[in-house]
Amino acid sequence: MNSSNNIVTGNITSGKHISFWIDSVENPGSFNKPDKNYNTDVVIVGGGIAGLTTAYCLLKSGKQVIVVEDGYIGSGETGRTTAHLVNALDDRYYDLERIFGEKNTKLIAKSHSEAIDFVEQTIKEENIQCDFKRVNGYLFLHPSDKIETLEKELEAAKRAGINVSRMAEVPGMKNESSVVILFPDQAQFHPMKYILGLAVAIEKKGGLIFTGTHAKEIDETGIITDDGIRIKAKHIVVATNSPVNNKVVMHLKQYAYRTYVIGATVKKGTLPQALWWDTGDQEKDIPPYHYVRTHPFDDNNDLLICGGEDHATGLADSENIKEEDRYALLENWARLHFPIGEVIYKWSGQVMEPMDSLAYIGRNPMDAENVFIITGDSGNGMTHGTIAGNLITNLINGKENELEKIYSPSRFKFFKSGMTFLKEFVGGLAAYLKTYPRDADAVTLSSIKTGEAEIVELNKKKHGAYRDAYNKLHVVSAECTHLQCIIKWNNDEKSWDCPCHGSRFTYQGKVINGPANKNLEYYDE
Ligand code: FES
Repeated sequence: MNSSNNIVTGNITSGKHISFWIDSVENPGSFNKPDKNYNTDVVIVGGGIAGLTTAYCLLKSGKQVIVVEDGYIGSGETGRTTAHLVNALDDRYYDLERIFGEKNTKLIAKSHSEAIDFVEQTIKEENIQCDFKRVNGYLFLHPSDKIETLEKELEAAKRAGINVSRMAEVPGMKNESSVVILFPDQAQFHPMKYILGLAVAIEKKGGLIFTGTHAKEIDETGIITDDGIRIKAKHIVVATNSPVNNKVVMHLKQYAYRTYVIGATVKKGTLPQALWWDTGDQEKDIPPYHYVRTHPFDDNNDLLICGGEDHATGLADSENIKEEDRYALLENWARLHFPIGEVIYKWSGQVMEPMDSLAYIGRNPMDAENVFIITGDSGNGMTHGTIAGNLITNLINGKENELEKIYSPSRFKFFKSGMTFLKEFVGGLAAYLKTYPRDADAVTLSSIKTGEAEIVELNKKKHGAYRDAYNKLHVVSAECTHLQCIIKWNNDEKSWDCPCHGSRFTYQGKVINGPANKNLEYYDE
């Protein structure tokens, strides 16, 4: 295997940077491609935690299952997460109560607690070695936030049935003495080791997994791959982070963000194994927050994995902070609060933020009854993906599930969602228009320097042109294959990102994030 070539083509991971998780597994999660047509009970598109957990649960319930993944296992967002397994959700419980009511918020909290239990149980049952550990989680105040935020959250989390308590200091942190909420019984694991273990269990139970297999057509009868293989199925599940089989409806209800991660050494024994989160920078429209965990690394060091500095996908420039400059901000913040040594990893990931803070899991709106989607991770992709596995299995088997309506992709809570989503949409549109490339006709291909990219006008159409480190020029059509917005260059991950709904493409035009499901036209020298 030529790993550097696989990175360029987006097979191993959806960007230039390699996460610690992908770097620390031997098997990159590659399986065969299908060489004949199939007929099965369920076909699942997407080989991340959501797709594989769903496959695992369905197999246990007696269904035949085929999983197809266009890269390798975990080459989407599961390989780029920081893998917090929590019922301390990214969005506040007092907001969930306002949107979903107290009774449903209890069920939401319970569903996340049970997802952590499910992962723990599955690891035992399938003997998966993935460094799972129960840990404490600490939610503390961002300096821009008010103490009432934590007080309200403490009470709302208690009402939701979580055993939270208040502490006066944040364990393990320096320069931090604010009030903090302790969420006990959270967990962390190595997400790639976990899903590779799930993949082994799926095969043992008779499931089939195909990688390097792109589902170019998806409908209620099954899928057709790029190679023309037909997989007919009674049920279809699309677990592709952003659903590639839903053209419009879902993309009016959620918004795509880039988030940044560094991995730095910290001397073994200096910090507890734990999770930390602040309440987010309230001076920004959509308050980005920091999220931190530790993970065993080598004989002398643990790794402190710290994330944050989010921005709407494709719109980093509108805040005048380029994608690649966000790691330094993260490092400064981490050094201020934790005794870190060298930064040895950096990578970014994509988060889908639903308008009402909760994942969309269930029947695809305005589609046949047998087509399901899993999307809107809301920064809690590990638990939401696990909840999806159980919920979709029940829906397919016709079993009642108290979560069906709560997580339904058809729900529409616009009026209860508050101003945040409106700000995201209006702000995103304004930022897109502000950064729209109006002077593309003034740019010539020869003026693009090594390592740079520009939108240029060729034959009266906009194109994206990138000159690589070897001076080779790569040109793609600049119209996103979802709804034709003009793509933006992400110099950090060397990808073309779409500011409208978060589709992403390699510099050779291969689609690596939905909702687009088709490559950009590509021309090289
Ligand atoms: Fe919708 Fe590009 S992602 S137009």
